[in-house]
Amino acid sequence: MSKQTAGIYVHIPFCKVKCIYCDFYSITEQEHQREHFTNMLCKEIELYSKQHQFDFNIDTIFIGGGTPSILTPFQLNKILETLNKVYKLESNCEITLEANPGEAPLIKLKSFKSSGINRLSLGFQSLQPELLKFLTRIHTRDQAIETYNNARNIGFENINIDMIFSIPNQTQKMLESDLQTIIKLAPNHISAYSLTVESGTKLNRMVKKNITIMPKDDDDLNMLLFVRKFLSTHNFTPYEISNFAAAGNECKHNIHYWKSDPYLAFGPSAHGFNGNQRWWNVRSLDEYLKRLEKNKSPINQSELTSNSMRFNEILLNGLRLKNGISVNKLKSINSKYKLELNHGLTKWRDKIILNEKSLYLTDKGIPFLDSILLDLFID
Ligand SMILES: C[S@@+](CC[C@H](N)C(=O)[O-])C[C@H]1O[C@@H](n2cnc3c(N)ncnc32)[C@H](O)[C@@H]1O
Ligand code: SF4
Repeated sequence: MSKQTAGIYVHIPFCKVKCIYCDFYSITEQEHQREHFTNMLCKEIELYSKQHQFDFNIDTIFIGGGTPSILTPFQLNKILETLNKVYKLESNCEITLEANPGEAPLIKLKSFKSSGINRLSLGFQSLQPELLKFLTRIHTRDQAIETYNNARNIGFENINIDMIFSIPNQTQKMLESDLQTIIKLAPNHISAYSLTVESGTKLNRMVKKNITIMPKDDDDLNMLLFVRKFLSTHNFTPYEISNFAAAGNECKHNIHYWKSDPYLAFGPSAHGFNGNQRWWNVRSLDEYLKRLEKNKSPINQSELTSNSMRFNEILLNGLRLKNGISVNKLKSINSKYKLELNHGLTKWRDKIILNEKSLYLTDKGIPFLDSILLDLFID
């Protein structure tokens, strides 16, 4: 049997501006700290590898943020070299970098490619000027398309485009027009998530004060179903509820998350999982740097996962995948799984299917996923 593979997530906590809706850990205007951060991040990777056994082959690296494309090619190269030095990377390792349109000039893209980045994820979000303005994005529609074309022209063969829907005042027509433009660009992958109102964000305060009214749940669901139908009819497989791939271009890194596989995580606020235990790094750049300067781990918290926690997580993540969850995986965690699942399944007959091989959600089940999960979770 081949060895189980795992992923590595690296969090880069810098952005030019903070978007009103974003709850990911990032800070602005810290250019002077980026070099020191890179050095401490590399120290974290080396320290962790010395202190913890992680006996998996690495087949994906995801450099996310924040805005990783803000780093210089030299800084990015150093991070990749350190990972390469201490972990066993598979030769065809998928290495993704998140880049913001308008903030990744051609010359930088070329250097990123030379460093080994073989997948780019571009945060378009929308192509409508008024919606980009509402989201406080600092790029234009033309810059998004230009960054995409630059990346293609210099030979990036695997490009994802991130989109957001259910933005206040966004009509289905606007979304359709954006998707029409995007499919003409022919990306390898499209992620489309509904705009969520995260606590602590400016959007949250705007909604609470009635300055902004979010679309109703039914409208949100209809937008998701529209995106799924549109992209499916244009040859993008909806392999996950919000993720769509041209043939053979599924995101291997995110599949690790949805399959509840192990993954390492580095950088402030990053969290990792080794199959039994989860851990979280401190969510503060200052604290992160302080600890590493003293050769201390930036892990803030960790917990051992119980069987029931793992079982529930496998359901939570795995039912998002079109192919669902392998029955063997469920069995390996919980031998009573069939009895417990059957109890919940009878109620959701045509919405979730259990056969000899897998447990999966049908298209009819998508609107009911949260309620189905509540019925299937175990204590
Ligand atoms: C955290 S960002 C990092 C990448 C890059 N800085 C960008 O903005 O594209 C990753 C993705 O999460 C999305 N995202 C962040 N907060 C969100 C929210 N509240 N609702 C939906 N998508 C969100 C972003 O728009 C982006 O596509
Ligand atoms: S959405 Fe991206 S650019 Fe905007 S604040 Fe979040 S990480 Fe930064």
